Amino acid sequence: MKKTNIVLLGFMGSGKSLTANKLGKICRKKVVSTDIRIEQKEKRAIAEIFETSGESYFRAVEKKVVQEIAQERGVIVDCGGGVVLDPVNMDLLSQSGILIYLSASAEAIFKNIKNTRHRPLLNVADPLGKIKELLAVRGPLYARADYTIETDHKTLDEVCEEIKDIVKGKI
Ligand code: S3P
Repeated sequence: MKKTNIVLLGFMGSGKSLTANKLGKICRKKVVSTDIRIEQKEKRAIAEIFETSGESYFRAVEKKVVQEIAQERGVIVDCGGGVVLDPVNMDLLSQSGILIYLSASAEAIFKNIKNTRHRPLLNVADPLGKIKELLAVRGPLYARADYTIETDHKTLDEVCEEIKDIVKGKI
């Protein structure tokens, strides 16, 4: 089946949602967020899912949502940072679209998330240390993407332009 989706991968706070929404406006494409779908399905916030049902329950719901979204055609997918942990997620997403990893340094990520509270994995005493630890584990998984865009020192518009160039003629 021809790939028709643009799938944005990347660590928490790397700008996937901002990029997906901006790109959606520019390209007039529907944006689908795994996190928003999960919250809609569960009728509760992600932090609450982690707190009361645990991470493994969250990952199971995330997997179902990825299965659903991978059936959609011509959309931009804003993936939660942890979708890469499950190889089945990666297979389905990669069959449905072009995988683009928005890569950011731990320091840039920390700057983006330091005043937010909605990401349970980073609500810890040393968020920068935790970012570095998770990035070390996940780096090789994000590397499965078809393309990587280094986002440090780039504007949102520049990142969107790069994505448009990447997907031109391919989807
Ligand atoms: C997670 C990333 C979050 C959200 C959840 C877990 C992760 O999404 O799915 O808090 O494991 O990286 P964002 O990357 O959109 O923040």
